[in-house]
Amino acid sequence: MKTAFQKLYDRVPLCLSEAPGRVNLIGEHTDYNGGFVLPTLIPQKTLVQLAPRNDRKVQLATMDRDGSLRRFHYLLGEEQAQENWGDYVQGLTWLYAREGIEIQGFDALISSHVPMGAGLSSSAALLVAFSRALRQSFSLNLSDVQVALLCQRVENEFVGARVGIMDQMAISLGDHDHALFLDTRDLSTRLITLPWDRMDLFVIYSGVRHRLMEGGGYNSRRRECEEACHLLGVKELRDVDELQRLGNLPELYKKRARHVVTENKRVLLAVEALEKGHMQELGRLMQESHQSMRDDYEVSVPEIDILVEESMREPGVFGARLTGGGFGGSIVGICEPGLALTLAQRIVDRASRRFDETPGILVPECP
Ligand code: GLA
Repeated sequence: MKTAFQKLYDRVPLCLSEAPGRVNLIGEHTDYNGGFVLPTLIPQKTLVQLAPRNDRKVQLATMDRDGSLRRFHYLLGEEQAQENWGDYVQGLTWLYAREGIEIQGFDALISSHVPMGAGLSSSAALLVAFSRALRQSFSLNLSDVQVALLCQRVENEFVGARVGIMDQMAISLGDHDHALFLDTRDLSTRLITLPWDRMDLFVIYSGVRHRLMEGGGYNSRRRECEEACHLLGVKELRDVDELQRLGNLPELYKKRARHVVTENKRVLLAVEALEKGHMQELGRLMQESHQSMRDDYEVSVPEIDILVEESMREPGVFGARLTGGGFGGSIVGICEPGLALTLAQRIVDRASRRFDETPGILVPECP
């Protein structure tokens, strides 16, 4: 039996690489403010099979879950953004050329199981998985941190999404049994063990697709933070320790800055709670984080708020919140160990009676 790769390119792939999606436990919209984040990984992955060529041609295909293929090709040095999935690969080869990182053409097949638009970083998973395939195939001397930084630049400079560094670092450096505590100012990291004997994790997609580039909500939040910094005379909101300092800001900037300042403090407390196994405390911090994103940062939507509300009606749930950039996407919650699937099913049942979208459980993966 020929594999899909063999059928497409009439040869076998030289390498297979992969990268999972991420879910952020707490620390939202802090990464582009020099602050702290605490993401972990989800089971769903993106896989890349790749075989180098002797010329400068790049042939790409993605396989959807139903097995259908979409194809695309270009020449190295002639990358042009098309506003589709191929831009992530084109962006990588474009950036490598600018950075003097030498590669040849290649044939590649991508299959992604990270849901798109669910706030779980399908784009960073594709970028990191592809970077790993290129690193392995062309023996590139790139560290995991360099991979993350290059992937972020592809988003910023080629795709046109002004994202921070959380997703790429989480995926390039994280693992499934830890949360990655990242200081986005100096990129220092610490892996914090997730106490699975005390907690379980669930992730529920609201059914409301989020897109960072469309509508501009994400980029306008960034601008508001920059404006707040300008008015406060600080380089980044990370530099603000005391809420009193926000007193004279116009109301909108005060709310945005208050979210970032309080969220940074919550991440530090969350790390402490995780390390001590204080799950109730972590849950409480997640609740506060959600309220702050909803009321001060204003990046939630009604479907997400309903999912969080229904989560909190379950006595076994310690806390739940909107995860990722917002304007749709997913919630993350923590609960008593072993109960995630049962509780998530109850939450989805009740929530779906309250809105039109169809929510779905992503973690734990349904059997
Ligand atoms: C998106 C971005 C991240 C981060 C989050 C919000 O996921 O890619 O860099 O800003 O939103 O915390």
